[in-house]
Amino acid sequence: EQDPRIKGIAASIRVVPDFPKKGIMFQDITTLLLEPEAFKNTVDLFVERYSGKNISVVAVGRAHSLTALPSQTYRFNMCFIIVGSFACLMIDLHQWKTAKGIEARGFIFGPPIALAIGAKFVPLRKPRKLPGEVISERYVLEYGTDCLEMHVGAIQPCDRALVVDDLVATGGTLRAAMNLLERAGAEVVECACVIELPELKGRDRLNGKPLYVLMESR
Ligand code: PRP
Repeated sequence: EQDPRIKGIAASIRVVPDFPKKGIMFQDITTLLLEPEAFKNTVDLFVERYSGKNISVVAVGRAHSLTALPSQTYRFNMCFIIVGSFACLMIDLHQWKTAKGIEARGFIFGPPIALAIGAKFVPLRKPRKLPGEVISERYVLEYGTDCLEMHVGAIQPCDRALVVDDLVATGGTLRAAMNLLERAGAEVVECACVIELPELKGRDRLNGKPLYVLMESR
């Protein structure tokens, strides 16, 4: 039985044919963000699923889009994320809870979920962006490879991790995030995305970890 809110969320996502290249049906969640009710319902559905489950980490994302923004905007985003992360870490010392996220579209959904469930948020970033000591995970893309980094010390071995992103395609991004978390000693409880592209079988690359999605792509 599908939650009635999902229909409205699906309707708010714009599908752009042949972007960024021919044959790709791009799932544009920026139109979801223009509808506060759909955005709130999206966050609420995840919060309802993960509240009270002793989830300690929310991890999200990937890396390309921000590079297209003017450098000033980029710097602002980065400062905001680092400050937010420190604030969460202070809460964590008190409550034994943790949260975490990957850029870029993943940063949109991770923080509101983390705040609502009382988890800390830890950004995963592309190489050479985090100022502290990092661990890195390289992963394969359709053409070439990419890399995610996470601050050493952001994750504790007691953390129960939730990995959040906007979309799962091949599953490579979620897999890299899971690997980073597990190398830091966390238990990955589940991966959660708004949209799944089922034909790419990303679900099968998650080492048997459960994947929860709100909808399949149109
Ligand atoms: C998209 C999406 C996921 C990733 C999923 O990010 O936001 O992070 O691709 O693909 P995968 O399952 O094949 O790994 P994109 O590369 O477009 O970057 P962005 O988040 O910076 O827009």
